[in-house]
Amino acid sequence: MTFVQTFSMSHLIAPSLLSADFAHLGRDLDMIQQSQADMIHLDVMDGCFVPNISFGFPVIEAVAKNFNKPLDVHLMVVNPDALVTRMRDAGAHLLSVHAEACTHLHRTLQNIRSAGMKAGVAINPHTSLNVLEYVVELTDLVVMMSVNPGFGGQKFIPATFQKLKDLNQLRQKWNASFQIEIDGGVDLQNAPQLLLSGADILVAGNTIFKSDNPVDTIAQLKQIKL
Ligand code: DX5
Ligand code: ZN
Repeated sequence: MTFVQTFSMSHLIAPSLLSADFAHLGRDLDMIQQSQADMIHLDVMDGCFVPNISFGFPVIEAVAKNFNKPLDVHLMVVNPDALVTRMRDAGAHLLSVHAEACTHLHRTLQNIRSAGMKAGVAINPHTSLNVLEYVVELTDLVVMMSVNPGFGGQKFIPATFQKLKDLNQLRQKWNASFQIEIDGGVDLQNAPQLLLSGADILVAGNTIFKSDNPVDTIAQLKQIKL
């Protein structure tokens, strides 16, 4: 059973904490908890793989203790292997690593699963889908970046629509069961087309946290009918 089947058959919404108000983290966590969000997306940046630094273990541990939806951790670091077991201990349920950062991606995915987490592969906008072919059986989630990673609030890259359709076709061709998450610049306008093109999970930071009513925005994303 895939983790999406564990939740439901409809698409999933993963608010990204990066766009929260860090001075009022408890309030924003409560908002996500009480909303129709299915999980929380946590962006870990090291200032090296991407030109930004976000947050690390203390914040993830605090989220895990005060939140009872799954933690979807997206590692944007040059050496993700070094963090796998500590991320599990901190409370991560899903752990995604960038294909571009992993010399031995196959081994890294094995390690994530052995540690008891779902294994995700994140790919940058320029990265070919080919990198996924020989790790399909170890992949629970593909995080397709629809912006260059590093910052919230960036503009969605339109070429993602075709890339997503291509990945959806490959998923069928490979008889694979991974879920597809779209990360970056997702909003209420592009979300229906993303879901039609094969996305299973929508990450949204700016769209949710900069809206007048974040709970209602999450509900609108969740209730999109195709
Ligand atoms: C970007 C991060 C995203 C980001 C999305 O590097 O991986 O998860 O938080 O934020 P928005 O939805 O504002 O583009
Ligand atoms: Zn992310």
